[in-house]
Amino acid sequence: MPFTPDAALDLLFTEDLIPQHVKNELPSELHIRPLSSTDYGRGHLSVLSVLTQTPDVGAAAWESQFHTLRSTPATYYILVIVSRDTDQIVGTGGVFIERKFLRGLGRVGHIEDIAVSHGMQGKKLGLRIIQALTHISENAGCYKTILNCSDSNIPFYEKCGFEKREKEMAKYA
Ligand code: ACO
Repeated sequence: MPFTPDAALDLLFTEDLIPQHVKNELPSELHIRPLSSTDYGRGHLSVLSVLTQTPDVGAAAWESQFHTLRSTPATYYILVIVSRDTDQIVGTGGVFIERKFLRGLGRVGHIEDIAVSHGMQGKKLGLRIIQALTHISENAGCYKTILNCSDSNIPFYEKCGFEKREKEMAKYA
C-alpha cells in the first residue's frame, strides 16, 4: 500500500505535539504520527498483539473506540510508527493524562500499551515512542509520567530515563 501522508488522515490529536527531535532520530523509511481513524487497516491490533491478547474486534468497533477516545479532549495521546514502504504500523504506544485535585489540580501521565512489531525490535523505536510520549506528558503539565511493566522490561525503561519506584497491585475481574 502507498504511504498515506498525515494531511490525508483523520488524526487523534495534532501532530505538532510530537517533538521534532524524535522525528529527526527515526530512520528515513519510518514516520511517527498520532493514531488515525483508519489505522485498523494498517495493522494496529496486530502490533499490539506482541504485548498481550488482542482479538480482532473488527473495523467498526475499532473506529468507534477511536472516536470515543477523541471525544475526550486533551486526554488520550496514542502514537504510531509507520513504514513508508508498506504504510503498515510497526510500533505504537500511548499516554493518558489524569487530572487530580491534589498538588494544586496536578496532572499525571500514564504511559500504556507500548509495542514494537517483532521484526522491528531493537532498533530504538521503543525508545523514540517513550521519548515522544514523555514529551507530550510534560508538555501537558504533568508533574510525573509513570507506567507499569514486567521485571524483564525494567532495563528498557531505565534506558529511557525511568527509575523503579513503587509496587504495582492489581485485581483482575
Ligand atoms: N532488556 C534489556 N534491555 C532492553 C530490553 C530488555 N527487555 N528491551 C530493550 N532494551 C534496551 C535496548 O538494548 C536498547 O539499549 P541501547 O540503547 O543500549 O542499545 C534500549 O533498551 C532501547 O531499546 P529499543 O531498541 O528502543 O527497544 P524496542 O524498540 O525493542 O522496544 C519494547 C522495547 C517496547 C519493550 C519492545 O521490545 C516490545 O514491543 N516488546 C514486547 C511488548 C512489551 O513488552 N511492551 C512493553 C510493555 S510495558 C508498557 O506498555 C507500559
